[in-house]
Amino acid sequence: MDPLSGKVILVGITGGIAAFKVPFFLRELKDKGAIVKVILTENAKKFASKEVLSVLSDGVFDSLWEASIPHISVTEKADLFVILPADYNIIGKASSGIADDLLSSSIAAYNKKLLFFPSMNSRMFENPIFQKNIDYLRSCGHLVVDPSSGPLACGEEGKGRLPSITRLVLETEKALIPDLFNNAFCLVTGGGTREKIDPVRYLTNGSSGKMAYSIARNCYLAGGNVELILGRNTIAPDADIPYRITSVETAQDMFEKIMDRWKDVDYLFMSAAVSDFTVSSFPKKIKKTGKLDLKLKRNVDILTELKKKKKKQFVVGFSLESENLKASTLKKMKEKGCDLMVGNFPDSIGSNNTSGIIISNSGEEEFSCSKDELAWKIIKKIKS
Ligand SMILES: Cc1cc2nc3c(=O)[nH]c(=O)nc-3n(C[C@H](O)[C@H](O)[C@H](O)COP(=O)(O)O)c2cc1C
Repeated sequence: MDPLSGKVILVGITGGIAAFKVPFFLRELKDKGAIVKVILTENAKKFASKEVLSVLSDGVFDSLWEASIPHISVTEKADLFVILPADYNIIGKASSGIADDLLSSSIAAYNKKLLFFPSMNSRMFENPIFQKNIDYLRSCGHLVVDPSSGPLACGEEGKGRLPSITRLVLETEKALIPDLFNNAFCLVTGGGTREKIDPVRYLTNGSSGKMAYSIARNCYLAGGNVELILGRNTIAPDADIPYRITSVETAQDMFEKIMDRWKDVDYLFMSAAVSDFTVSSFPKKIKKTGKLDLKLKRNVDILTELKKKKKKQFVVGFSLESENLKASTLKKMKEKGCDLMVGNFPDSIGSNNTSGIIISNSGEEEFSCSKDELAWKIIKKIKS
């Protein structure tokens, strides 16, 4: 599922310095299958060339005075109208009903949700007039994403940066998706836990955390308030992602972190590869010479422990099986008291794709797809 596929996205560009980043955003939208139309102000042309925007989009408009009457004809076909960077000026115009050029007239003529990404010097952003204007736009049902903090083009530091391209795309997708979770707390575990053997060696597995990232991303898109509890993983998170990440090492750490949050959890997605065994660790690095005896002990079984404490929480378990996938997944689902269980094969570990079976009270479904698609299938099953 890509929410952008086939959707008409109208992008309004204003005269903020961050306009030079818009071509990268347009390319992402196009890669995800969107039809992209662009409106730019006269001042925006100082920062982003019309020629480049034309190559990366399905049409650029910059004048009210065209036979097609673009502020009416272009806006009526758009599924979503995104304004980025939304400068101080356009927020002022949009919130007070000024329509004196193509972009502001198009905003006036658009009768669906608008998505604004403000970007400016932090003193302009904090100006009480500007803050009142964005509050008003939000009260009208429009979406305004706060800028990020960091170094600004003017040489100052503060809040005012355009968020990363990843975040811009994420928020654009979110604006197109129905709010299924209504801010419910979705706790997602992922990656592999690791148990120390000696100061430098670990007992662990090849889990990448990709499944957990896909679930976290899709839960956020569907309106969840998301936290990821991550063991060892191979993914560098984007600093601008709007969900929390807590890192853990051992299975016991992961269990304790889940328990700290348990009473607030609405949905738990237990996609971490938790080590079944821990080991009595050696205080010093083990020498190569001689025989090595590792004393393994059973680790805490997180899902079995949670079964005893389950109240309102909807629990999604994951089961990795080399054989008898359906029977083993069903057995685990019952033993561990999960509401939904995903059975998958060992070659899913570390891969972008996965195959297996989803079992829930409403039936079963086999899958062979990307982890992102699986995450969406699970959410749809939960909410069907
Ligand atoms: C070099 C330069 C950079 C600017 N960057 C921003 C900016 O990042 N955000 C902003 O709100 N205004 C910025 N401005 C001011 C706007 O360009 C100005 O308010 C202009 O009237 C906006 O016109 P428009 O909304 O029609 O595009 C900048 C101006 C200059 C000269």
